[in-house]
Amino acid sequence: MERERNILSRHKNIVLQFPFYWYSTPAILKEWIDEVFSRGWAYGGGEALAGKNLMVAITSGGPEKVYQHDGANRFTMEEFLRPLEQTAHLCAMRWNKPFLMQGVRYLDQAQIDLICSAYVQEIKKLG
Ligand SMILES: Cc1cc2nc3c(=O)[nH]c(=O)nc-3n(C[C@H](O)[C@H](O)[C@H](O)COP(=O)(O)O)c2cc1C
Repeated sequence: MERERNILSRHKNIVLQFPFYWYSTPAILKEWIDEVFSRGWAYGGGEALAGKNLMVAITSGGPEKVYQHDGANRFTMEEFLRPLEQTAHLCAMRWNKPFLMQGVRYLDQAQIDLICSAYVQEIKKLG
């Protein structure tokens, strides 16, 4: 955990890149946050992450249209991501617009390449 905290301390931009599992992060990423973002370091008297950018980059099986109020998943991605947005807020981090690659099984290689280029641009914009 100390090693992970040292890596975070050295960087201004933190991107959590993960596949969407059961409307959330995979369990192992949740555990990583549980262990690394500790009280007295990340919040509750600690400010180690304050001012850093937090961006999430997510692949999902479901396409954008199922992440609408009238769609199969009933809630938007923005709504599903509220716990992470609030985690950033608690740690005084800047919450950036999530980067989404949705409906992955419907994408062909040319579309994947385009989305990857856009991803690189978004990361560069973090500065
Ligand atoms: C355990 C599990 C849970 C999943 N839950 C969701 C989900 O809640 N919503 C969704 O859109 N896709 C879901 N998927 C599909 C994954 O998001 C998708 O396969 C993944 O983003 C593709 O990335 P990968 O090629 O790196 O696995 C799930 C997949 C698995 C294996």
